[in-house]
Amino acid sequence: MTDRANIIPGNDDGVTRAAIHLQACRLVAFPTETVYGLGADARDDQAVARIFEAKNRPSFNPLIVHVLDVDAASLYGVLDERARQLSDTFWPGPLSFVVPRRPDCTLSLLVSAGLDSVALRAPVHPLARDLLAKFGGPIAAPSANTAGEVSPTHATHVAQSLGAKADMILDGGACAVGLESTVIDLCSEQPALLRHGAITHEQLEDILGPVEDATRPVDGTAPRSPGQLARHYAPRIPVRLNARDTGPDEALLCFGDSTFGNPETTLNLSPTGDLTEAAANLFAFLRQLDTPHHRAIAVTPIPETDLGRAINDRLRRAAEAHADPKNDPRKG
Ligand code: TXA
Ligand code: MG
Repeated sequence: MTDRANIIPGNDDGVTRAAIHLQACRLVAFPTETVYGLGADARDDQAVARIFEAKNRPSFNPLIVHVLDVDAASLYGVLDERARQLSDTFWPGPLSFVVPRRPDCTLSLLVSAGLDSVALRAPVHPLARDLLAKFGGPIAAPSANTAGEVSPTHATHVAQSLGAKADMILDGGACAVGLESTVIDLCSEQPALLRHGAITHEQLEDILGPVEDATRPVDGTAPRSPGQLARHYAPRIPVRLNARDTGPDEALLCFGDSTFGNPETTLNLSPTGDLTEAAANLFAFLRQLDTPHHRAIAVTPIPETDLGRAINDRLRRAAEAHADPKNDPRKG
């Protein structure tokens, strides 16, 4: 059963209460333009440890630290010219930088999970910004779901996944982007894309020149970003990609014109073929179709352009989670 008792409207009073929770080292789920985050004071070891506990997250997976702007970011990370150019263009917004930790960095070591780097992001969502301003410090926040599940894009998703493990859920309605932020690694001379998101590879290269695509580690090599494990973003039932038909008991997730599928078990990410709308709907629709009544979710092809790249990346991970039993989130 969903525990909705801790969902609080995202108004001024709600933000004030959320800031008080953070100051007391408790956990607050809050909306960002990408997905809901499960936030804690990024400087406090115990508060950050509670995030890992609530998410049942492997401790080697580091967290993104949210700040208001580039000045706040540079208190914790070494921001070079590339980071400044990117932040001028894309901050606040759905882009996270992985940069070296400053020697005097006061963030909990747990947010970096043992690495000497830190992921920093300035979100644009007004409630996230109000919360950062009222709290007055950095907020560590991974997506507000149990590890291995798809990220939440509505307050009710957070309640379903975490229940009372979040001391409070600040309700900001649906997330506009609907996919997690783009992650770029700026720790070495060659910048590397670690995760596809709303800011595309091309947009990053327009500013930086060549950016290595490290989003899918070559077979046998260790992932550059611990979050690249295939078992992220997985529904409980199998996902079948590039479907041109549906099998018995399969639900259908389609895109654009679609002439097949039982209307009762079909959801269309965007009937008009709009990739932005499709991204915003993706996780909510996967959740709706992920029920024991269906054997699997068949997904029609999505164009591999613009945001389609990030959507296909999430869908491939969802499909792979079941192709390889090691990656089945129910066993992880
Ligand atoms: O849109 C988002 O980024 C959301 C919202 C809440 O901001 N947050 C989010 O956080 O997706 P999370 O923890 O679910 O994903 C963070 C990703 C993971 O893939 C993690 O491995 C990677 O960023 N990451 C964080 N710190 C890193 C580091 N120091 N080096 C390499 N990868 C890092
Ligand atoms: Mg996540």
